[in-house]
Amino acid sequence: MSQPPHARETEGLAAPRGPPQLRSSSPTPGSQGRPRAPLVQRTRSTSLGDYRAHYITPDEPRRGARMPADGTQAVSPTPPRSPPPPPRRRRTPCSTPGVTPRTPRSSISSITDIEIYFKKEFNQFTGSFKERGARYTLLMLNESQRKKGVIAASAGNHALALSYHGQDLGIPVTVVMPLVAPIMKVQACRQYGANIIVKGSDIGECREIALKMAKEQDLLYDHPHILAGQGTMGLEIVEQVPNIDAVVIPVGGGGLIAGVALAVKALHPHVQVIGVEAERCASFSAALKAGHPVYVKAESTLADGLAVPKVGVNAYATAAPLVDKVVTVREEWIAISILRLVEHEKAVVEGAGATALAAVLAGELPELKGKRVVIPLCGGNIDTTILGAAWSGAWRRTGASSSSPSPSAIDPEVLLN
Ligand SMILES: Cc1ncc(COP(=O)(O)O)c(C=O)c1O
Repeated sequence: MSQPPHARETEGLAAPRGPPQLRSSSPTPGSQGRPRAPLVQRTRSTSLGDYRAHYITPDEPRRGARMPADGTQAVSPTPPRSPPPPPRRRRTPCSTPGVTPRTPRSSISSITDIEIYFKKEFNQFTGSFKERGARYTLLMLNESQRKKGVIAASAGNHALALSYHGQDLGIPVTVVMPLVAPIMKVQACRQYGANIIVKGSDIGECREIALKMAKEQDLLYDHPHILAGQGTMGLEIVEQVPNIDAVVIPVGGGGLIAGVALAVKALHPHVQVIGVEAERCASFSAALKAGHPVYVKAESTLADGLAVPKVGVNAYATAAPLVDKVVTVREEWIAISILRLVEHEKAVVEGAGATALAAVLAGELPELKGKRVVIPLCGGNIDTTILGAAWSGAWRRTGASSSSPSPSAIDPEVLLN
């Protein structure tokens, strides 16, 4: 069986050569049950206002593009020629990813000297921003792909999002989840009707299994549409909070920062895009150093959603030229960030979703003092035992009050075990 072009994990959104510009900034793709206009036009050399974006087809290397280490080539996204029909019916009023509301300036601003606005993505139905990319990609499938279905490798949020929207749209979904995936998430995906295969010790192994199955069964695996879908968060951010100076984005596989950076820089090139990784799995920093995605050892982290040992080829090709800075944070700051969000925002946010704020609290971004900054709180799917451990671990090590924690005193192992 021939492999569909996008069954390869090697497609990459061509990096803009100058400040990109988008013509429109309408809301989330799924908000009307139909996708928004694609971020880019489907041509090899596309004029977007003053900006000429150069893309390659799956068969042709992009001029000047770096080749991934495994010899495969980064290729372009393939925005659809025409949008597919809207879903036949919706199961719940929340079946499409929503435009999460603009929230007022956070009271955390007073302790950080930064004007902080949160984008509360944990309010999405399955608890994370991953619905954006999942829904958008499913809506872009042609009829034959919709029948065959899609496959993914995920330990949590992407699996939930894809399973839920696959069921809603009547598209078969298979997800390979690692043996360490939380049983609650595995069960939830199965309840959404997805074919869940629990195999592989980490997400890297799951990816290999999923890629093999994609080839054998002609299923769609990964696609630049996922990045475009995540990018709708960036469009909402600049619509909802005018005159921002920076966005600070957690980085796992890199899809979110790639989509957001493309959207935000296209509309407002001066806005800084800053990535934050968990120190225990700094695969984007390693990729930047190497000049291409490389494997790093992924140690257990409170930010389990960021524990991706190798960033995506597509995500890297898109994000690397647009991202201004990437920093890493220690576990204790992620724990403190989770606590601060409960205290100040009454928000339960998972470690990955709290990581961008952790960088601010850790003092990693002093240049943002006095600036207007948007921080997405990307997900809320935290295991209650982890939440309890983060809470009590931070408190136990810092005294009776969480208001003046001394992070250096917190042992990450205490938080995780
Ligand atoms: C809550 C949360 N935040 C951030 C990320 C990072 O997104 P990406 O893998 O696209 O870099 C993830 C990834 O799973 C996540 O679950």
